[in-house]
Amino acid sequence: MARVHNFSAGPAALPESVLAETAAELVDYRGCGMSVLEMSHRSAAYQQIFDETESCLRRVLNIPDTYRVLFLQGGATLEFAAVPLNLMRTKHAGYVVSGNFAKKAWEEAGRYGQAEALATSEATNFDRIPDLAPVAERCAAGDLDYVHICQNNTIFGTMYHKLPDTGDVPLVADVSSCFLSFPLDVERYGLIYAGAQKNAGPAGVTVVIVREDLIADGPALGICPSYLDYRTEAAKGSMLNTPNTFGIYLCGKVFAWVEATGGLAAMEQRNRAKADVLYDVLDASGLYRGTAQPASRSIANVTFTTGSKELDAAFVAGAREHGIEGIAGHRLVGGMRASIYNAVSMESVEALAAYMREFEAKQMAGGRSL
Ligand SMILES: Cc1ncc(COP(=O)(O)O)c(C=O)c1O
Repeated sequence: MARVHNFSAGPAALPESVLAETAAELVDYRGCGMSVLEMSHRSAAYQQIFDETESCLRRVLNIPDTYRVLFLQGGATLEFAAVPLNLMRTKHAGYVVSGNFAKKAWEEAGRYGQAEALATSEATNFDRIPDLAPVAERCAAGDLDYVHICQNNTIFGTMYHKLPDTGDVPLVADVSSCFLSFPLDVERYGLIYAGAQKNAGPAGVTVVIVREDLIADGPALGICPSYLDYRTEAAKGSMLNTPNTFGIYLCGKVFAWVEATGGLAAMEQRNRAKADVLYDVLDASGLYRGTAQPASRSIANVTFTTGSKELDAAFVAGAREHGIEGIAGHRLVGGMRASIYNAVSMESVEALAAYMREFEAKQMAGGRSL
């Protein structure tokens, strides 16, 4: 069976060993006589899977005891609402609008209180992380409940290389597409959340890591649904209702794979090396243009275009013939996007780089003026 080079932005490539282990355990989980898919979330066997999953994540990310870890559903999108519902105590929060998801989070928060856009790069189609000086200035006033950022902008291929200075104002980050890509100093944040389907597991699980004191008094807004109430979810061990049992089990396997293959420092080293290979091709090319400003380039999503819709389409079609999938860019940017999450191997990235060079050489030979 041949596996393709999968550059999908999410759901995305999973480590092959994780898939193989899951397949081996699928029908009879470790002598239980049933699949994890069939197991009660209240059973001792499942609780053990859940507890090991959380402990492994705590080790991998070095999460302090003062933070609670939740495994929820509804994707990062539901967190766009859960964050203001829980944290908007004075109904005043700051948002950095650095991409499509950052904008959605900002707009959603505006339904519950005053969500101020402190900085934006929309005028240049989100090709960079905006200047963050206004964030520090605004935070100094001391009246914001939190500042929200989207740390890696999946669609636009940009990421923060330095976090904004928010002083005493809690920093909240959507880290969906850079979760487990590199070490995070969890204590720099009040809350981080991530949809699992990029680097952490399958779609259908959202990981929320939140500083305990921020949720100790319950949700900020009385209309907060019980399911979205972080304090209740923490008290119930993420099992206020039936959790995504199989998804969490799979996340546990991915966390264990991260730990066994060197942890987050090793992930970062490998991801930077993979990104360098692709950015080197872009920087040396007369055909391709990276769509993200160099100072804001992501190490998880590499976006580029030929500048011609027809050529971009030909690139994507030709890629498929080389076993390269999931390479078409998002419609908001066009062109191509290579998502090079942890489970995407250097071999796959080298295959893409070779195809990029081959495609460019063919264009040159075809007499296209570059
Ligand atoms: C950075 C980021 N935030 C939020 C989302 C939305 O996530 P979900 O589909 O899990 O709600 C995505 C999805 O791709 C994303 O990349």
